[in-house]
Amino acid sequence: MTASRPPVSILIDTDPGIDDVVALSLAARSPELHVAGITTTYGNATLAAATRNASAVLALLEKPIPIYPGSDRPLERPLVTAPDTHGPTGVGYAPVGGEELVTPNPTVLLGLLEWSEQPVTLVTLGPLTNLAHALSVGPDLVRSRVRRHIGMFGSLHEQGNTNRWADFNAWADPEAVDIVLRAGLPTVMVGLDVTRRMELSAAQVEHLATSSDPLIAWLAKALRFYGRNGCVVHDVLPLGELIEPDLLTLAQVSLAVNLEEGVHRGHTMESPAGTPSQVALDVDMARMRALLARVFGEELQWQ
Ligand code: BDR
Ligand code: CA
Repeated sequence: MTASRPPVSILIDTDPGIDDVVALSLAARSPELHVAGITTTYGNATLAAATRNASAVLALLEKPIPIYPGSDRPLERPLVTAPDTHGPTGVGYAPVGGEELVTPNPTVLLGLLEWSEQPVTLVTLGPLTNLAHALSVGPDLVRSRVRRHIGMFGSLHEQGNTNRWADFNAWADPEAVDIVLRAGLPTVMVGLDVTRRMELSAAQVEHLATSSDPLIAWLAKALRFYGRNGCVVHDVLPLGELIEPDLLTLAQVSLAVNLEEGVHRGHTMESPAGTPSQVALDVDMARMRALLARVFGEELQWQ
């Protein structure tokens, strides 16, 4: 535990999303982090639903973190959301209020970076569209203000979860991944190679559903939607690495993304034509489980 360091100031770009709301809970309950703001994007749900879902979990956390809506569609591809995986609202069976109208602001991140006095760490948990827009308009500003970018996207060796090769976030907007990789930011790709290990069984979710903590009971209703085979909470891992440095084993890889349509769309791979990037290849699960006790409570038994 590194509670004596000053908190790391972070911005979170997210598309809540069941595992996104778990990740937001971990961030908000970790004294090692200061969440300066949250930007939202389409992805697991529409921009309006994702923004509403971010507000719902922050209300339960009793954290007044500002939320700023961003992009409502990919750079070039048609909009596709993930109701089969995350439910029609984006957060499974967890109750949420109605959607409110939101005005998309694709360059929202640029504005936030402009205001921020200090360089920040940017955490992306959804498609990379908001970051790509910011880089397209103000590349120098983004480079000077983003100390580090750590994102849940992609996969190097693991099978994809959206087509044969790609994870959902890279698949949803491969052109955005391409812009981000070529920008040469200090990017860390935390992809399916490690996030697949963040499994919760259906029995664990049922146990959480009995909690008297309204946040945990609400998260359990969201997680239950993943069904009888349990669930994988991908998005918590980038936050784990920020809370507990060196939780992940990183390797430098020359990384590129495939822009073709079809089975290779969004495939992140090693290529001589790629950009040197950090890729997570292993995770210290014992430390990560201990961190998740901050969200789920100590009584949850992990396999
Ligand atoms: C990623 O896609 C979404 O389903 C999850 O929220 C996660 O960010 C995993 O491929
Ligand atoms: Ca996500």
